[in-house]
Amino acid sequence: MTTYKLITHYHDVLIVGGGGAGLRAAAAACERDPDITVACVSKVPVTRSHTVAAQGGINAALGNRIPDDWRWHMYDTIRGSDWLGDQDAIAFMCEKAPEAIAELEHMGMPFTRDDSGQIYQRAYGGQSSDYGKGGTAYRACAVADRTGHSLLHTLYTHSMRHDVEFFIEYMALDLIFDDENICRGMLAWELETGELHCFRAHQTIIATGGFGQAYASTTASSICTGDGNAMILRAGLPLQDMEFIQFHPTGLYNSGILITEGARGEGAFLLNGDGERFMSTYAPSSMELASRDVISRSMIQEIMAGRGCGPKKDHLYLSLAHLSRDVIDSKLPSIKDIAQTFAQVDIYTQPIPVVPTVHYTMGGIPTNMQSQVVTIDSKGSERIIEGLLAIGEASCTSVHGANRLGCNGLLELIVFGKAAGEFAADSIVHGASHKVISSELLEPLITRFDDLRTARGNMRPNKIRKSLQNVMQANASIFRTNDLLFNGQKELRTLWGMMQHELHVADTSLIWNNDLIEALETDNLLRQASSAMTSAYERCESRGAHWRQDFPTRDDAGCLAHSVCFVDDHGNTRFTIRPVRLHAEDMLTRTPISFPPEERAY
Ligand code: FUM
Repeated sequence: MTTYKLITHYHDVLIVGGGGAGLRAAAAACERDPDITVACVSKVPVTRSHTVAAQGGINAALGNRIPDDWRWHMYDTIRGSDWLGDQDAIAFMCEKAPEAIAELEHMGMPFTRDDSGQIYQRAYGGQSSDYGKGGTAYRACAVADRTGHSLLHTLYTHSMRHDVEFFIEYMALDLIFDDENICRGMLAWELETGELHCFRAHQTIIATGGFGQAYASTTASSICTGDGNAMILRAGLPLQDMEFIQFHPTGLYNSGILITEGARGEGAFLLNGDGERFMSTYAPSSMELASRDVISRSMIQEIMAGRGCGPKKDHLYLSLAHLSRDVIDSKLPSIKDIAQTFAQVDIYTQPIPVVPTVHYTMGGIPTNMQSQVVTIDSKGSERIIEGLLAIGEASCTSVHGANRLGCNGLLELIVFGKAAGEFAADSIVHGASHKVISSELLEPLITRFDDLRTARGNMRPNKIRKSLQNVMQANASIFRTNDLLFNGQKELRTLWGMMQHELHVADTSLIWNNDLIEALETDNLLRQASSAMTSAYERCESRGAHWRQDFPTRDDAGCLAHSVCFVDDHGNTRFTIRPVRLHAEDMLTRTPISFPPEERAY
């Protein structure tokens, strides 16, 4: 094996990932305790993290347009989650939301304003007033249709006020655990120099985002390979609720680029090939503002019924032509540009061709309310993994349950990012030394890296990645069956065999080795795909984004539980469950507040 130069860094808090969640955590940790040291390690320059792609907004019950209440937001989130979300975590997020927005405003985030100068709020899918009885809510605080871009730059600028040490263009390889299974940091590969770095920390926060790249058609950028989730699996820890994959109804036909739900929030509507607003059949009261899972399924049903648009009848139309030019220019300028550039569509006069496209992965690293990573031991008991937290799309806290509502993603990043940063800072004992980690503990991590780097089979990593994406797209899509999922598991096992015996990494260098990056990412995606496929196979009901044609109803008696799935280094999966927390309380008054399962209709 090659001898690698290993550079060791020591920090109190290590944040893996420089998107919205990571940056919010970094600033919060520094603000909570200016005497601690904080490092942030990112695969890309942080302002290119995938948060930048979020368009439509960030939810908070500010009531700037019509009266609102965080409890209504909580109810909508639980209903959106199809009752799989943990209600204490959801209450925390919704109650904290107005304060979180005020903090962003004070950091300088340039929110769009209404005529009275208040933050502009738009309607969004699944959001209602008065516990679903009072009509549409206006809860999404927006910066035109570039909210994520604005948020990310605001947070990055804000983090510059603090002493966060950034390590940019480092690929996370594996978490480092001591012999008591306490997390002690992470091993990473510096892409520019080829050196390996050992980041030692008392608290490590994973904020590496989702794994949308496991699918062939996705709004997720090519960096979204769930690198943190895969590190968790390699450490023998499980992932949770991985079967819940969100398809966004309006991915641009052919390229999958996001066309924001904010367009529908501004009044755009969906049309089938017969020119009908077909959502009246499926969600007569909410129409195009039903939840994403409902709309995506309706679109596929229209296409399957032969009512799609275009020569192949394989997409639908999103029409904005009835909106005023002023609304388009001031609220949806990026959508205008995207449609023009990537589909040659002039949205003032022409509809945009759209199809449901993978957008968000609800599952991820199981945590408790404090964002501490947990596992389930062989007796079914929950155990906290000391020194390790997870936030953002990488985590499953679980505020989104079986289906995330639009604009709750950015909210989760900042609420739990801040809370986790503060929690990590509070747990640091000043001057505490870092436990010595023996070379025997690091050796298997370096060997794995070296094995991939020197793999000399006949199959390039991008081929395996493409096959994996096609298997997921075909077998774990919007509509699922026992046979599809069974065969999907079989096909993934074939890909495991290819990864282990046929992988060919052509570039032997250590510097900017894109072939090796692709191999590492494909390995990461394959582990998560196995976890998602198995969890989908095991969940014999339909809930939120997981629709089983062979089990077309929700089964609260048998299935109201989180899926928990382990994947070993050979692709074998082990499935178990974890209870959903159905009770919460108002943080301020300590009054109990919860919403028992009910029928979900839009
Ligand atoms: O449609 C959108 O703008 C996406 C927002 C979200 O996923 O939260």
